[in-house]
Amino acid sequence: MTIAPITLHQPRRLAVGAGTVGGVGAWAADAASILVIATPITAGFAERLKLSGRITVFDAIPGEPDIRTLGAALEAARRCKPDLIVGLGGGSVLDVAKLVAALWDSGQTLTDVAGPNRVAGRRTRLAQVATTAGTGSEAGIRSLITDPDKGNKIAVESPHMIADFAVLDPELTYSVPPAVTAATGVDAMAHCVEAFTSRRAHPMIDGFARMGFRLVGKYLARAVRDGADTEAREGLMLASYYGGICLGPVNTAAGHAIAYPLGTRLRLPHGLANAIIFPHVLAFNQPVAADKTAEVASALGLGAGLSKTELLNTARDFCSSLGIEMSLAAHGARTNDLPLYASEAHANRRLMDNNPIDMSIEDVLGVYKAAF
Ligand SMILES: [Fe+2]
Repeated sequence: MTIAPITLHQPRRLAVGAGTVGGVGAWAADAASILVIATPITAGFAERLKLSGRITVFDAIPGEPDIRTLGAALEAARRCKPDLIVGLGGGSVLDVAKLVAALWDSGQTLTDVAGPNRVAGRRTRLAQVATTAGTGSEAGIRSLITDPDKGNKIAVESPHMIADFAVLDPELTYSVPPAVTAATGVDAMAHCVEAFTSRRAHPMIDGFARMGFRLVGKYLARAVRDGADTEAREGLMLASYYGGICLGPVNTAAGHAIAYPLGTRLRLPHGLANAIIFPHVLAFNQPVAADKTAEVASALGLGAGLSKTELLNTARDFCSSLGIEMSLAAHGARTNDLPLYASEAHANRRLMDNNPIDMSIEDVLGVYKAAF
């Protein structure tokens, strides 16, 4: 079998470890004007960057950033004319920071750059400081922004959106609550597992995926139990970063496609939606990805030689034992809504076509019913 060539973009510099957030200031000692993009909560970490120079904090980033949010952030940048932009937050913040760095001083608009490889260039330096472990946005070159009129997400992808400096400091994730830690940790693992078993899987990305799901197997329960467990938090930040690398050239598959309607229609947080769906797709794909699925099961401590049913049950127990409510009904889903979810998920060919085995609309509906 020939292996399709891939191209990987990674941050120019990566710092990993407790206290590394303090290195941003020294790295950017020559920056005269700095724009920090954050949420009202993560803005509280801005001091820890140890920045000098003129600092502007833009903290109006909601959970799901839309075009208006981006417009306001671009306005803030045009006022302060930064030579450094720092994204300080979770995936939403980091996605906005990428776009602001690429667009604030260019003639291009969001519409101009939507899609792959349409950003003309970037002059402003970009540091990405993650405060959650889930999306792995700091690792990559993609941003998702909601279009409230159309109700969908605009994806921008460009090598010009890669970070000059990415920071994974576990101390910034101590205060993430156990429920969010659990769901986002499973989401990070799902990025790795879906890329690992994808039709477009690649041996090099498989290596990152393995490191990622093994770290989740080793550390997620510990971080849920004790949020200040530095070693576990650091392991999860790495897992999230590796998941981010998996998202680049290979991306996710049916699991994320099936989780999307739970976000757009049922308004479940992205991590939670993916955690609920994860065991079902893992088991569905088992027949065509037996060896790789067995590797995942072993890394998560689910056992060896599992039947499809045993795999589904043990994977669901893995998530439940982290405190994740795995029933769609408990989250307010109604049986009547499931066919709509199924047709929307099935129509997401961008991700569905990556799945190692084709899923019919009935198969997808079967997943929702089983998760109900
Ligand atoms: Fe995800």
